[in-house]
Amino acid sequence: MAQSTLSVILLIFNCFLFIESVPTPLETPVRYDGAQLWNVDLSDEQTRQMVFDLENEFDVSFWSTSHAEADMFLKKSAIESVRQILNKNNIEYSVRVDDMQKRIEEESSQLYGEESLYGNNNKSLTWDAYYSFDDILLFLDKLVEKYPNLCSLETIGYSHENRPLKVLKISNGNSGNKAIWIDGGIHAREWISPASVTYIVNDLVENWNNQPAYIQNVNWYVLPVHNPDGYEYTRKSDRMWRKNRSKNNNNHCLGVDLNRNYGYKWGGKGTSSNPCSEIYAGSGPFSEPESTAVKNFVETSEENFDAFLTFHSYGQWILYPWGYENHIPTEDRDDLDSAGRQAAKSMKAVDKQVYTVGNSADLLYAAAGGSDDWGKSVGIKYSYTIELRDKGRYGFVLPPKYILATAKEAHAFVFTFAQIIAAN
Ligand code: ARG
Ligand code: ZN
Repeated sequence: MAQSTLSVILLIFNCFLFIESVPTPLETPVRYDGAQLWNVDLSDEQTRQMVFDLENEFDVSFWSTSHAEADMFLKKSAIESVRQILNKNNIEYSVRVDDMQKRIEEESSQLYGEESLYGNNNKSLTWDAYYSFDDILLFLDKLVEKYPNLCSLETIGYSHENRPLKVLKISNGNSGNKAIWIDGGIHAREWISPASVTYIVNDLVENWNNQPAYIQNVNWYVLPVHNPDGYEYTRKSDRMWRKNRSKNNNNHCLGVDLNRNYGYKWGGKGTSSNPCSEIYAGSGPFSEPESTAVKNFVETSEENFDAFLTFHSYGQWILYPWGYENHIPTEDRDDLDSAGRQAAKSMKAVDKQVYTVGNSADLLYAAAGGSDDWGKSVGIKYSYTIELRDKGRYGFVLPPKYILATAKEAHAFVFTFAQIIAAN
C-alpha cells in the first residue's frame, strides 16, 4: 500500500518534471505571404463608406488614411474578392506592395540581431539598419558613459513585460533653459521612429559643442522607445503589430493602442472598446504602464515643457491638435500651423520630400486619447505628431536605405522647433 502510494507520488512528480523539461517552442513569426498593400481612391462619401466596410467582411486593415485615399493592407485570402468589389464599383486602386513577406524578409536580412552592438567597439548605431531594443538601451548607456556631464538616464517606468522606459536627459544645466519632450516608437511597427529619434539624440550629444545656442539652451527629454514590448514583438513575432502587449484581463486578444490610451477625451471618436481592435483604447484612461509613465513624468517634472513631439510613421504629415474631434481648433491654431510649415520647409531641404501640415482630425481622421492631445491639454504649446516616411510606397516596412535621409528630416524638424521656441 505504502509502496504504491509512493509510486503514484513519484509518478506525479515525474510528470511534473517531464512537463517542466519540455522546451517551450519558439513562437514562429507570423507570415505575410502574398499579402498586398493597395492605395485606394476615396472620391466621395459613398465610396469611402464602402471601402471602410470591407474591413468587417474580409481580412483587410487600413494602414494610413486621409480624406482622399486609403492604404489598405490585404491578406492573400482577401485579394480576389476585394478586387472584384472594387472593380464592380469603379473604385480605383493601385498595388504598392505585391508581396509583403518578401519585403519583410529583405528588411530582416539587414537587421541587426541581439549581439550587434556588444561586438562593436564604438557601441554606436549606424542608421543603415534597424536595431533591437537592447541595442538602443546600450547606445543610450554609452552616451551617458561618454558624456556624463551632459547626459543622464532616468527610468520613468516599466512596460507590461517589465522592460525599462528610459528617458535620456541632455542638458548643460543652465537655468532658464527651454524644455522639449521627444518620444518615438509608441506604435510597435513604426520602426523608422525610434531609428530617427536615436539619430537626433546622437547628433545633439556628439556635436554638442558646435550646436547653436537655441539647441544648447534647452533641456532635452527623449524617450526613444515608448512601447518596447510591442517593438520587440514586431522583431520576433509579427512585423505588423501596432499596440503594446497588455494581457487585457485574459481576453484572447492582447494589446492596447497606447495612442488611444492617453487621458484627454479618452474613449471618444476613432477608438474602440474591443480588445481585439487595433485601436483599442484600454480599460480606462491611462490604464497602461507605458502611457502612465509618461504622464507621471511630465506632470511631476519641474519643467514647463515648450514642445511635445511624438514621432510616428507613415504618411509624411505634421499634425497638430485637436485630434479627438473634427473642426475643433486650438486657440493658437495659427501659431501651430505656421511653425509646422516652417518645419516642413526645412525638412524638404534635406531630400526634397514633402511633409503636409495640418490639424490631424481634418487631414486624417478624428481619434481621441492621443498623446499629442494630452500634451496640449496639459498646457504644452507646441504639441505635434510627426508621421515620417514614406507616403505609402512601402508603408511601415521602410527599407533600411531610407533610414538616414528620414532621420535627417526628423532632425530638421526638431532643430526648427528649437529655433522657434528660442525666439518666443
Ligand atoms: N496615425 C496617428 C494615430 O492614428 C495619428 C494621431 C494623430 N493624433 C490624434 N490625437 N488623433 O494614432
Ligand atoms: Zn503611429
